[in-house]
Amino acid sequence: MKNQRETILTGDRPTGKLHLGHYVGSLKNRVALQDVYNTFIIIADFQVLIDHLEDSHKVKTNIKEITLDYLGAGIDPAQTTIFIQSVVPQLAELTVYLSMLVTVSRLRRNPTVKSEAQRIGVDSEQDNITYGFLGYPVSQAADILLFRAHCVPAGEDQRPHIEQTRELANRFNKVFGKVFPLPELLISETPRLPGIFGEGKMSKSLGNAIYLSDSAEEVRRKVMSMYTDPTRKHASDPGHIEGNVVFTYLDAFDSDFERVADLKNKYQVGGIGDIELKNHLFEVLMNFLRPMQKRRNEFEKHPDYIQQVLKDGCARAVEIGEETMKLVRKAVGYNYADLFSAK
Ligand code: TRP
Repeated sequence: MKNQRETILTGDRPTGKLHLGHYVGSLKNRVALQDVYNTFIIIADFQVLIDHLEDSHKVKTNIKEITLDYLGAGIDPAQTTIFIQSVVPQLAELTVYLSMLVTVSRLRRNPTVKSEAQRIGVDSEQDNITYGFLGYPVSQAADILLFRAHCVPAGEDQRPHIEQTRELANRFNKVFGKVFPLPELLISETPRLPGIFGEGKMSKSLGNAIYLSDSAEEVRRKVMSMYTDPTRKHASDPGHIEGNVVFTYLDAFDSDFERVADLKNKYQVGGIGDIELKNHLFEVLMNFLRPMQKRRNEFEKHPDYIQQVLKDGCARAVEIGEETMKLVRKAVGYNYADLFSAK
């Protein structure tokens, strides 16, 4: 029975289309696990406001694109509830309760918030960070706890948020009574895919991403500009594997491990050139992307269907959210039904 299954919740910020980093970091696990777990995917539109206030009007388009990416990648709306964060008022309500259970100094120490803040030139230890930015891990904890999730498939950068969520769940359970399971992070085999130039993780803001919907030409251009081994001048020179982005991607996407091992050997003794190697990676990536893109293109022709998926997903999320909030209000003592009903 579906209701007795354990629950997964994870999600993305709708800042643009999804890329290969999203796929290996979390999407792949979601697709694989949706048959086994009760799965929820949150499109975290509030989180766009953390550092992209000026982009708020692009979010609606991004939500449609991201939903197409999900369906193309194999997320099945019959198994997985896809919903939009701001449409579920219970998330905001739970955030208020949770916000009373964490200190500001604890929030300032979150390493992911620290590095994200640094990127836009603010310091989480100082007072120039907004209340919403510093506190978004509390809102993210509400995302997870409202669905009483057991498991969160996500990349390594989300670890501090899951730890924070567990602390909040634990504290709530101790203070008010047990409502929440303590969620576990489910880390993927490739928790952090580097961008095509090898520095930093793949991300839209760094301009180093290959998108799930990129055309073959775009993929080719990006693969050809990939960082390999800067010490190697000629194809016959021995090359390095470590830090070589092409091999990192082959490890993540080429399922023929023997062939990858063979290519590594050849590269290290100067037996294969960068172009030939990149051509191979291009083929591997296109074999992986083509079926997803075919499905995505089909769904793109049916905007009514996309609308329905989101509408149903949001309705279901509100329903489950209200179930949890009933438990939360009761635990806190803020269930006022009897106060209002005439005797
Ligand atoms: N912070 C996540 C990201 O930037 C998105 C997200 C929002 C999320 N709520 C979540 C991930 C709940 C896992 C669980 O990608």
